[in-house]
Formats: sequence, structure tokens, C-alpha cells
Amino acid sequence: MFDENPITKRLGITYPIIQAGMAGGITTPELVAAVSQAGALGTLGAGYLTPVKMRDTIQKIKQRTDQPFAVNLFVPENPDFSQKKVSQANDWLEGIRQELNMEEPAQSPEINNDNFQGQIEVLIKERVPICSFTFGLPSREIVQRLKNADITLIGTATTVDEALANEERGLDMVVMQGSEAGGHRGTFLGDFEMSMIGTIALVPQAKDYVSIPIIAAGGIMDGRGALAAFILGAEAVQMGTAFVTTKESGAHPLYKQAIRESSEDKTAITKAFSGKPARGIHNMFMKNFDKVEQQLPDYPIQNELTKGIRKEAAKQNRPEYLSLWAGQHPRSSTEKHAKELIQSIVSQINSLVDGLTK
Ligand SMILES: Cc1cc2nc3c(=O)[nH]c(=O)nc-3n(C[C@H](O)[C@H](O)[C@H](O)COP(=O)(O)O)c2cc1C
Repeated sequence: MFDENPITKRLGITYPIIQAGMAGGITTPELVAAVSQAGALGTLGAGYLTPVKMRDTIQKIKQRTDQPFAVNLFVPENPDFSQKKVSQANDWLEGIRQELNMEEPAQSPEINNDNFQGQIEVLIKERVPICSFTFGLPSREIVQRLKNADITLIGTATTVDEALANEERGLDMVVMQGSEAGGHRGTFLGDFEMSMIGTIALVPQAKDYVSIPIIAAGGIMDGRGALAAFILGAEAVQMGTAFVTTKESGAHPLYKQAIRESSEDKTAITKAFSGKPARGIHNMFMKNFDKVEQQLPDYPIQNELTKGIRKEAAKQNRPEYLSLWAGQHPRSSTEKHAKELIQSIVSQINSLVDGLTK
């Protein structure tokens, strides 16, 4: 009943379940391929990858599956650069760097927006069937080029207006990212705080106003959440946190453990790691910046400033300084293989539907 709809047909998948592209090493080729092999849609989170690394990873995915998969990209932004803010942020980060025995950072991080253009070329050359975007809209020119290459395009929205902007730009379907969602907010039109709309309110309003198919995201961890999203009008669900703890995920073991031990009241929205609001498990790093986060440089400048710290913290097994992105529904996380997770979601949906129709 739920598994044949315009989204599954268009994407060529069996189940309307999308594993979110999660930049930063979580979406290993093993994870993406396992999800796609199981009949859902695996997504490579390529936001931070160079075009060369992205191409190599795509090739590794292709060696593992002949099923459709997606690549997720970040639409680049041009932040205002303030040397004063960078120096101040570096001063605030100094204590953590010392604790981790790190060297002085560069004072002016380099932001390279050419990366995005290179990533687009790789998508086309590698004939990636599906591409999803967050942090804004790709240009009309890029949309046209990707469409000419027969690539299905998925946008991200946190409000109905953003979904309409995706539709107008020519994207084929749109992820409605509710405020429960783990990771960065995709907000690109309105005020971040005013755009914190829960999935249960966001999805039906989008369904009523938007013509392209809707994918629900945020707090969906199992068949109950997925079925609820379908009833609200979504034709697929996108899940992030649930896949972070799977066996194939590349997340640090202490990050997986932190999600497994977390609860609905342990996550918060922070700009501390990247300069852009994102939801993660509240830890020491976030606490340090709670009071000054409005004074931090914008994304992606702050992201560049904290990159080395996160890398070093991972090496030294210090989760208090890692970005532990997670949604508001961590209690239902499991440590299954991705295939088992997908099978359990599907069988739970089927038994819930059976119960409803009895
Ligand atoms: C660890 C993590 C990393 C994420 N990275 C990305 C990303 O690179 N691109 C993107 O479009 N969304 C990203 N997201 C957001 C997801 O697309 C999705 O909106 C979110 O995971 C849904 O909420 P859930 O985590 O409760 O399932 C990320 C989410 C998590 C948990």
C-alpha cells in the first residue's frame, strides 16, 4: 500500500525510505550500498568532500550496488567575513586547543566555493541518478544541466515558502525538515528560529500548498513515525539519526554510544560548531558557547575554525568536543545492520496497517 507511489517509481526504489546524506564520514560506501541493496535509497553525504574524493567514493558505492543511490550536496553560501569575529572565536577556542595539545590555527580560514561546481561535474560524469541539496537552492543553470543529464533533484525546506521556492526552481521533490531533525537546519529564506516547525505540523501544510512530492524528515526512527508521515501526506521519509548507529555507519563508536544513551531532552540547537544552527546532543563544546554563539562567525567560517578540534577530539576519544548531531528521538536508535533496520521499519508499517484495517 505504502510502497508504490510517485516517489518510489521516480527513484526506482522498493520502499519510500531515504537514508539521509550525512556529511562528515558517516555515510560510508558500505552504508549507502547496504541501504540501496535493501530496497530503500542510500545517500552519500558529500557536502564536505572534494570532487576527487567524491568521485572515488561514488565509484566505491557502484562497486557494491547496482541499485539507485543519491548524493547530497551543500549549496554554497557567501558569508560576511569579519577578522574581528574570527580572532575572537579563535580566542574562545584556544583553551580547547591547548587541552587537546593542538597547534595555533590559521587566522583566516579559506572558503572555497569552486568545490561545488566541481562536485556538479562529477555528478554528471559519474551519472549519479539522484542528487539532493540542502542550505538553499541550486542555480537555475545547475538545475537545467542536471536535468539534461537525467538526474532527479531533491531539495530541502523547513517552511512551506521554502518548499514552494524549491518547486518554482524546478526540483522534483522536496524534503520537509521538521524541527526535531538531527544535524544542520536547511533553512534558507526566513528566520531560523521562526522556521523551527515540528514535522507533524509541517508535512500536511506542505502537502496542501505544494505540488511536488513531499518527503518527511525529523524524529522518524521506526515504522510508527514513517506510517504517521505517510498519513500526513508524505510520499517518503528521510531518516538520519536512525542510520548513524547502524553497523555500516562510519560514525565514531563514542558518538554511536552517545546517541544510544541519549533521550528526547538531551539535544539542542547550536551554532557553536559550524556557525549554522544544527541539532546535536548537548555536550561540553556546546555548553562553552551557549552564551556567545550569536557572536561567532557565520557558516562555513566557524566550521573551518573548529574542524581541526573535532578531528583531534575524535582521535583522542573525547566526545565532549565532537559534534554529536542527533534528532529528538534517540531512544529508538538501534545497532542493527542497515538492511535489518529497513526490514524492521517495513514490517512494523505492514503490521500497523493490518491493525488499522482489521
Ligand atoms: C549526523 C547527521 C548529519 C546530517 N548531515 C546532513 C547533510 O549533510 N545533508 C543534509 O541534507 N542533511 C543532513 N542531515 C539532516 C537530515 O537530512 C535529516 O533532515 C534529519 O536527519 C532528519 O531527522 P532525524 O535525524 O531525526 O532522522 C544530517 C542529520 C544528521 C543526524
